[in-house]
Amino acid sequence: MGNVAKLEFGDKRVELPVIVGSEQETGLDISKLRALTGAITLDDGYVNTGSTTSAICFLDGEQGILRYRGYPIEVLAKHCSFVEVSYLLIYGELPNQAQAQDFAHNLRRHTMLHEDMRLFYNGFPRDAHPMAILSSVVGALSTFYQDSLDPHDPEQVAISIYRLMAKLPTIAALAYKKSVGQPFVYPRNELTYCENFLQMMFAVPSELYTLDADMAQALNLLLIVHGDHEQNCSTSTVRMVGSSDANLFASISAGICALWGPLHGGANQACVEMLEAIKASGGDVKAYINKVKDKTSNIRLMGFGHRVYKNYDPRATIIKASCDQLLKKRHINDPIFEIAQELEAAALSDPYFIERKLYPNVDFYSGVIYRAMGLPVSMFTVMFAIGRLPGWIAHWKEMMESPGKKICRPRQIYTGPVERPFLPMKDRK
Ligand code: CMC
Repeated sequence: MGNVAKLEFGDKRVELPVIVGSEQETGLDISKLRALTGAITLDDGYVNTGSTTSAICFLDGEQGILRYRGYPIEVLAKHCSFVEVSYLLIYGELPNQAQAQDFAHNLRRHTMLHEDMRLFYNGFPRDAHPMAILSSVVGALSTFYQDSLDPHDPEQVAISIYRLMAKLPTIAALAYKKSVGQPFVYPRNELTYCENFLQMMFAVPSELYTLDADMAQALNLLLIVHGDHEQNCSTSTVRMVGSSDANLFASISAGICALWGPLHGGANQACVEMLEAIKASGGDVKAYINKVKDKTSNIRLMGFGHRVYKNYDPRATIIKASCDQLLKKRHINDPIFEIAQELEAAALSDPYFIERKLYPNVDFYSGVIYRAMGLPVSMFTVMFAIGRLPGWIAHWKEMMESPGKKICRPRQIYTGPVERPFLPMKDRK
């Protein structure tokens, strides 16, 4: 393979530089294409479009490989805390002891919300979806921290990163407390990131709260495996919004909205709702698979399939093992887990799924663990957001620091009416 690709278009012959990544992924640099030929590329859903080069996350969808900054996800999930992995994603290296302590200290200092911000929660309806609350309150951070909005000032960016990482669990836990009508619980800074989140969610003033080490460990693992996934819909949104030099809070708030959809992070909620529905209708897995295969039904097997993975999602492997371990250890007999496993076996032996290379993704088993933790279904996508936050921050920061940064502004092929005469209202049919 040469270092240029040759393209003939009409009477034009152009050479497109070939860009090769560190894992030998290959891209054709078309940045001069329009200038040289007058034509653009068209790629609905960006199936073949590389929007950037990036040094944060590598994934090989054919082989089922996922690495953060070069480290396999399996190794990080086994040995690290979520805070450590967040540091790795955001700053590029695993922290040494001093760096880890410093980072954890900075996160602890910022866990509380401004008391006026707490009042916002009074205005949200009690049945509001927590993802709506999450994106609203994160967007509102820009109103409280006007001292740290300049995306090109490293000190302001540094403090915004601490604030976001520290406050997102608090914002999320308050959304849950609001939905169940319980008093808000303040953060406890002597706890770890995951322990603190669990106590803000489940402690009540009338009882002594006992931390559950198994649940904190399972949460740590879940957050790590959600940490980053290169140019997915929400991360691309964060980059897109940030490319206009919007501040970090605004960019992350937009990413939360993108994550909410059921084809992306919202699939974990949709997946458990699907499993519940199968259970409620008698647990007939085969009948459900048949409905999914019927193209007129418009039903998808939630938690299955992926734009990039054409193999078992390595995150699903890790989560399934943890799920199995946790449920056994705690003697939890969740019929939903049984149905999920039956559904997986049925799908993986069915030609429809085999031909299309559809495997369980990260959302297929995560909901079972969240249920075991006592989280309501509406909080599942919020958990995804907490896990994905360091990835979003890392991409936003990488883009802001890139010398070639440009505003993201795709083109289009216009297919509407050509110029036509204006008719006054009285003459319109
Ligand atoms: N159930 C049934 N059929 C499916 C599914 C599914 N979950 N996913 C894809 N297909 C079929 C699809 O109908 C199409 O069939 P055909 O070739 O006959 O038209 C073929 O497989 C290719 O699908 P696609 O929609 O072109 O693939 P995509 O890359 O655009 O979509 C996806 C990827 C994740 C949106 C899709 O697989 C899906 O909707 N999955 C269910 C939702 C889900 O679990 N999302 C979470 C993704 S992982 C977490 C995250 O990063 O957000």
